[in-house]
Amino acid sequence: MRVAVFGLGYVGTVTAACLASGGHEVVGVDVDPGKVDTVNGGASPVVEPGLAPLVSEAVAAGRLRATTTAAPALERADVSLICVGTPSAPGGATDLAYVERALDDVRRALEVATPPPGGHHTVVIRSTVPPGTGEELVAPRFAGPLPDGWAVATAMCPEFLREGFGVSDFFEPPYIVVGSDDVAASGQLEELFGFVDAPCHRVSVATAEALKFACNAFHATKVSFANEVARVFRGHGVDTREVMSLFCRDTKLNISPRYLRPGFAFGGSCLPKDLRSMLHLARIDDVDAPLLSGVMQTNDLVLRAAVDRVLATEQRRVALLGLSFKSGTDDLRESPNVDLAERLIGKGFDVRIYDPLVNPARLVGANLRHVEERLPHLGRLLTDTPEEALDGADVAIVSDGGPEVVAATVAADPSLVIDLNGGLGPAVEGLAGYEGVLW
Ligand SMILES: NC(=O)c1ccc[n+]([C@@H]2O[C@H](COP(=O)([O-])OP(=O)(O)OC[C@H]3O[C@@H](n4cnc5c(N)ncnc54)[C@H](O)[C@@H]3O)[C@@H](O)[C@H]2O)c1
Repeated sequence: MRVAVFGLGYVGTVTAACLASGGHEVVGVDVDPGKVDTVNGGASPVVEPGLAPLVSEAVAAGRLRATTTAAPALERADVSLICVGTPSAPGGATDLAYVERALDDVRRALEVATPPPGGHHTVVIRSTVPPGTGEELVAPRFAGPLPDGWAVATAMCPEFLREGFGVSDFFEPPYIVVGSDDVAASGQLEELFGFVDAPCHRVSVATAEALKFACNAFHATKVSFANEVARVFRGHGVDTREVMSLFCRDTKLNISPRYLRPGFAFGGSCLPKDLRSMLHLARIDDVDAPLLSGVMQTNDLVLRAAVDRVLATEQRRVALLGLSFKSGTDDLRESPNVDLAERLIGKGFDVRIYDPLVNPARLVGANLRHVEERLPHLGRLLTDTPEEALDGADVAIVSDGGPEVVAATVAADPSLVIDLNGGLGPAVEGLAGYEGVLW
């Protein structure tokens, strides 16, 4: 394919040289004439292990060259990849000025360049941009009448390269992600990266945009988590490197997809208690632990979001299906569902609760104390069947999705169904009022 790559920085040069090594014909564009001369001289304008030989081989083979203007790069080009910088603006927003300018350069170049055979061209954002950029900034630029022979679609195709490992990460990415609502554009991008052995995921533009931010936020959080855990334990005679090394060897719960689905708040008899205790250790040593403190705050915000969602309906009758903190148990200690029930009752909602395993007559010990404190009238709120809880309810909040709960919810079809933990299945997800707290 013929490819124009805008921006010959770390991402652009790696992308251009690797695509050329895969057999594509690539023209790099940069406003910096020094970088353009460097590439045309067969050298890399940035230092990345393995990049210099790829650039020199591709230039020598005639598969890579560079220019300071867009038009020659757009000549018969199938794809434009925008890899310009997206620095922070003063308030923290992404400064999209370079992206806008590169898009305008592409749009102007269409006026003079010869279209590719078939006329189909895809403008792809590869820079890191916030969700909404594709819809608000990229697509509209190519929506109007285009010069004769050009048909342009737009897409987002984030990179997953680490600086210092850019070339090896290009050839061994976790996956290729193609964000576009245009089938032809998605097909073209799959073909472009077809020589890379990785699964390809076709998603919406906003998903592709948000994914890259989520990845970077998670990587940053991982670094700070390890450092914060070490700061909290260091004063307690703990070998923090050994702790984190073993921590990482738990690939079942720690380094795994577990606990990484948007859903409802955490709770139960361990996580809140032990997190509080760690924060206490930090406090007695005068160690700030803002990440771990923030975890508690974020958890409370999820609970509040659920309450706000119900408040916004202006309905009064609520069925809460599932009360224990985890389905399959009757453990109510610090269950966020108990909190949710308490808050809704406090705001005057008529709440009925069904939980197949919670029987007030059988509750003992800490479990009983917790309920007596938080929901003293539990006995009166509990129903024997999900149908009774749902009878006349305008809102169903479902955390325990056993088959009887699913069937009763589908039959009742209330105006709002909040699926707290996700995965209630297609029958419930098909209801008009179906939502999660965070989706
Ligand atoms: N995965 C990673 O490790 C990684 C690393 C750095 C950056 N990024 C992301 O990739 C994107 C690019 O970052 P970078 O570090 O490669 O940027 P960079 O600053 O190294 O390079 C950007 C290049 O774009 C050029 N440019 C600016 N406007 C242009 C235009 N209109 N036409 C042509 N060229 C133009 C600049 O001259 C510069 O050479 C950013 O969104 C960044 O957030 C990812």
